Amino acid sequence: MEAALSIFKLSFLLTLLSGGSDLIDSLPPNCNRAECPSYEVVHAGNGYEIHRYNTTVWISTEPIQDISLNEASGNGWNQLSDYMNGNNDYHQRIEIALPYITQVSQNLSTFIVSFFVPKAFQPDPPPGNNLHVQRWDSRYVAVKQISGYVADHKIGKQVAELKASLQGTVWAKAIEKSRETGGVGSAWAYTVAQFSWPFQWSQRVNEIWFPFEMEDEETVSIVTQ
Ligand SMILES: *[C@@H]1O[C@H](CO)[C@@H](O)[C@H](O)[C@H]1NC(C)=O
Ligand SMILES: *[C@@H]1O[C@H](CO)[C@@H](O)[C@H](O)[C@H]1NC(C)=O
Repeated sequence: MEAALSIFKLSFLLTLLSGGSDLIDSLPPNCNRAECPSYEVVHAGNGYEIHRYNTTVWISTEPIQDISLNEASGNGWNQLSDYMNGNNDYHQRIEIALPYITQVSQNLSTFIVSFFVPKAFQPDPPPGNNLHVQRWDSRYVAVKQISGYVADHKIGKQVAELKASLQGTVWAKAIEKSRETGGVGSAWAYTVAQFSWPFQWSQRVNEIWFPFEMEDEETVSIVTQ
């Protein structure tokens, strides 16, 4: 209750400070049809946005060794859509929610693919073969939206662009601090969040994520500066 209240106070304060203009809770278009976790836009920068997610639950593959992000994501998609189709310990069908995410290791050769678990299933996601549940605390995410297909030959450049757009900002400092102290985001180089279906040909929206942690009080002081 205390936490919920302070989050509420924070949103209120942020809304006041910004005049409400850049705090539109926008979601990618497919979230009209599929369940997506909601987030708050804390800051809209040049080439990036800072989002704040509440707690989320994910169903995740074992680490996948591969040299290709695309191959690993496809492999993960197959395992997880099978699980969602009812091939799980409760024989329960779960409507696929978005995004599905791929966490990429620092050496770029180990991947964990996860599906967002819809709210109704979060208290007790069915166990599945070689799958495990990740429960994330609320966190900040630096986001770059990318259109089209996520592609091995483009992703390195897009990640570098996100890094460059954050350079010199207080967010870059917070991300670095979170990583150096073993906090949120320290285990992975970056995460790709796909808000598009593999068989969707147009209007594809996906995101590159740098998740990090930060005290809400710190954010307020940044926004106030
Ligand atoms: C965050 O999630 C918790 C638990 O589901 C909920 O009680 C709380 O109201 C949520 N807070 C916001 C700001 O949505
Ligand atoms: C890459 O990093 C992952 C996670 O830290 C580790 O499990 C894996 O063995 C590493 N792969 C190589 C080829 O070094």
